[in-house]
Amino acid sequence: MNLENLPFSQSCENNKQPILDRLTELLAASRHVLEIAGGTGQHAEFFATELPHLRWQSSDIPTNVTTLNRRLDAASLGNLPTAMVLDVNQKEWLLGTWKTDYDAQQGVQNQQALSLLERASHHAKAALIAEKAGEFDAVFSANSLHIMSAGSVTNFFLGAGKLLKLDDKLIVYGPFNYGGEFTSSSNAKFDQWLKQRNPQSGIRDFESVTSIADVAGFDLQSDNEMPANNRLLVWTKRASD
Ligand SMILES: C[S@@+](CC[C@H](N)C(=O)[O-])C[C@H]1O[C@@H](n2cnc3c(N)ncnc32)[C@H](O)[C@@H]1O
Repeated sequence: MNLENLPFSQSCENNKQPILDRLTELLAASRHVLEIAGGTGQHAEFFATELPHLRWQSSDIPTNVTTLNRRLDAASLGNLPTAMVLDVNQKEWLLGTWKTDYDAQQGVQNQQALSLLERASHHAKAALIAEKAGEFDAVFSANSLHIMSAGSVTNFFLGAGKLLKLDDKLIVYGPFNYGGEFTSSSNAKFDQWLKQRNPQSGIRDFESVTSIADVAGFDLQSDNEMPANNRLLVWTKRASD
């Protein structure tokens, strides 16, 4: 395995420690985290290493999950199973029937460049840890809401509302606008760049995502200032009606 050619993002390197500093307390009582939009896998690898009481289940859209798994496979950590395919617009996500079972995505694992033996041992290990960790009790996602479309942002929260149970945490890291204003000129420039690349992308309004989260059954627990004009938003799931 060539470690030098693994997917890499400098911003992940910069923000992983400040995020960990918050997650350490926020996820102290959690056991099984679903990460949405895992990207390069740097966060997954770092948080699974530093928070060994957690099973860190990463995921990404079909076109990105193989790249993500290159780093996770190389890390080979017992609490970091192979990433699953999850697009927040998937019907199963919205209906609450998206499988939490590692076995459900065997077909995807088969496309990956793992040897049969590696795959079997990885699979057995992950299935065992999943059994012990139980159902997901937290969802984490970084730098994803400004990439996906506004409709996908709504689906992100609606699906998380179906997946999580009373008092479970939903934690989102990234830049947000407040009162319709950018919080810095660098965020304004970043937003312009995002929209040139894809008109559906863009920095989201804190008030808007908080309203969507409310409809999806989440109460805002805290809004934390982070370095480089980012925020860490934390919600907890209300009891179902
Ligand atoms: C800027 S990257 C962030 C990756 C990583 N979390 C990080 O902090 O570096 C945005 C991620 O959003 C994912 N994404 C885009 N649309 C998505 C969707 N509809 N459902 C799930 N993930 C999506 C992309 O595949 C990509 O991994």
